[in-house]
Amino acid sequence: KLQLTVGLLKPDIAGNPTIVSLIEQEILKKKFYILKRKVVRWQKRDSEMFYKQHKENFFYRRLVDCMTSGPIIALLLAKENGITDWRKLMGPTKVYKSQFTDPNTIRGRFGLTDTRNTVHGSDSVQSAAEETSFFFPDFNANKWLEQL
Ligand code: CMP
Repeated sequence: KLQLTVGLLKPDIAGNPTIVSLIEQEILKKKFYILKRKVVRWQKRDSEMFYKQHKENFFYRRLVDCMTSGPIIALLLAKENGITDWRKLMGPTKVYKSQFTDPNTIRGRFGLTDTRNTVHGSDSVQSAAEETSFFFPDFNANKWLEQL
């Protein structure tokens, strides 16, 4: 059964066409469907809303600033075990680790810092549903899944 997840290519790489196409090729090679793709530019309030659960974290300001520093590419992905598999392909949050322990992951290859870590992925079925309607409000997940 296909599972939906949202992948974000963050501003640290979304403006770099070479890295964007390498990441998208990697996603397709791993047998994900890319159902939707959208380029967005966030205002501070969008970033603050999206990351509200990190409000108390020391890196919150840094994160909000990073996500408003340029365009973001949002991808709606589908695959069996899509949520877990996309997070596996992303690699660990902490880039100083991932570049050594998981050098073939996206963060391991392209990540710069723990904040500028190139990609984001939904972390549960619930957040995948929330993030899908956040980025793709017109997408009817139930209808799409029924059609398969
Ligand atoms: P993301 O998967 O988008 O979810 C929360 C983000 O916060 C994370 O990726 C990083 O960009 C950032 N983040 C998480 N942990 C740290 C940290 N220790 N230091 C700085 N930024 C972090």
